Amino acid sequence: MSTQPAAIPIERAEGLKIPRHIGVIMDGNGRWAKQRGLSRSDGHRAGVEAVRRIVKLAIDYQVECLTLFSFSAENWRRPPDEIKFIFGLLRRFVASDLDRLAEQNVKVRIIGVRDGLDSGLLGIIEEVERRTASNDGLDLLIAFNYGAKVEIARAARAIARKVALGELAPDAIDEALIEKHLDTFGVPDPDLILRTSGEMRLSNFLLWQSAYAELVFIDENWPDFDEAVFVKALKVYSLRDRRFGGVGS
Ligand code: FPP
Repeated sequence: MSTQPAAIPIERAEGLKIPRHIGVIMDGNGRWAKQRGLSRSDGHRAGVEAVRRIVKLAIDYQVECLTLFSFSAENWRRPPDEIKFIFGLLRRFVASDLDRLAEQNVKVRIIGVRDGLDSGLLGIIEEVERRTASNDGLDLLIAFNYGAKVEIARAARAIARKVALGELAPDAIDEALIEKHLDTFGVPDPDLILRTSGEMRLSNFLLWQSAYAELVFIDENWPDFDEAVFVKALKVYSLRDRRFGGVGS
């Protein structure tokens, strides 16, 4: 049975604009660990706790879609042991949290390239997507082995194939058609992209989709992400004047 999102007390939400879609670049696990004399693995482990917190917050604040950047196409440059550890974390996260996510009415989708992932991980990805497919609460997109340029190139190839087969006229290629071929098809573009740890760049995350996203960079490292940090980011977002190229209200 699905659980409806708990309404948050009005004093916590008052004056805040709630983005429909938040994209998060979870950065700073390594630095968080180093500051404490811990290993990078400890930092990633603490990062998973922050993942649990943001999923709960997104549900409580009635965000429609949350996309978490968990492993980038460029992260393959990390030491093999660290890559293995992050892959294991995703596996364990799904194994331990799947029941709760299903109960919370969360619909999970893993976006990114699946080629090259091992069969165990692929099985887990398929299971979590299948188990939560009919949920209609929070859309949780986990970007894993994801890179926006690869995503756009893949969309271009799929469209080119249809043109080559005569199924599509070149003049029919417009923004909506390209969007249909992106991994994020079916969810609104992110209103807010949040990056932790003070770094100010997009690092190949949702490049097409973030054309009009508000970018908010916060100093805290990802493992320190909690409701206070979330609300602070929402306050910054709420003060932004979103004009989408127009002149505003
Ligand atoms: C960035 O910190 C973090 C990552 C590249 C991995 C993020 C992964 C998780 C939080 C866990 C797995 C996710 C799920 C959904 C279970 P960094 O290592 O780049 O930190 P640094 O820049 O301080 O070194």
